[in-house]
Amino acid sequence: MRRDARVNGVRLVWDEVGERGRGPALLLVHGFPLNRSMWAPQVAALAGEAYLVVPDLRGHGESEAPSGPYRMADFAADLAALLDYLELPRVVFCGLSMGGYIGFAFVRDCPDRLQGLILADTRAGADTAEQRAAREELATAVERAGSAVAVERLRPRLVAPATRAQRPDLMARLGAMIAGTPPAGLAGTARGLAQRPDSTALLSQITVPTLILVGAEDEITPPADAERLHAGIAGSTLRVLAGGGHMANLEHPEAFTAALRAFLQRL
Ligand code: MLT
Repeated sequence: MRRDARVNGVRLVWDEVGERGRGPALLLVHGFPLNRSMWAPQVAALAGEAYLVVPDLRGHGESEAPSGPYRMADFAADLAALLDYLELPRVVFCGLSMGGYIGFAFVRDCPDRLQGLILADTRAGADTAEQRAAREELATAVERAGSAVAVERLRPRLVAPATRAQRPDLMARLGAMIAGTPPAGLAGTARGLAQRPDSTALLSQITVPTLILVGAEDEITPPADAERLHAGIAGSTLRVLAGGGHMANLEHPEAFTAALRAFLQRL
């Protein structure tokens, strides 16, 4: 069911799927600059087994795009306010890429709300000076010419080479998500990403069950990043998905969802 409300001063849109109390509550947090529709395969597969809350982050999809920059802590505060609104004390937090960066802010600011953590195709480190400059350049270009200019800059590296060559449907879907992100949201997020802190020191403080997933061919956050997360989070489980790129959940949905399901069943 599609819902919307003003929480933490911003109008958010989200989907709620499944029955509350039937299985764990799972919060699915999308990457940059995408939207909640990227979770469609997992929502379809897990609807009978979990209670799913799937938001569009501020500045993305159908949610409001106030002026930025949006810090990862702002996104985390929005999500905590959404959980308050839904009267959900604790969730399993699943974030892909930027969703994972937001997961670290969530761990920092509201650790008591976590029942478990799923970190997919993400990393703990901050941006390099070069990456920060590229974010600012992207933000400026989008403000000048619209979000479509971000498609060719960002989309190629989101997927594995085989996906790029053989999945025009998926490439079109990713292009539509990027182009459909409002320029203010895309620019505000790019600038917030550049400001995000290094979360490496936080890893040893994560005590909830944690699953780390990564596509074996992820070019943005490669398996070496996932191994660093695994080494830093005591008791975590690492799954490397063969043939997957950065958007492993869309490129190999069956393997990705199976790993999620196995993790949720063990909680
Ligand atoms: C994402 O998928 O969320 C982005 O690739 C993250 C990033 O740009 O660092």
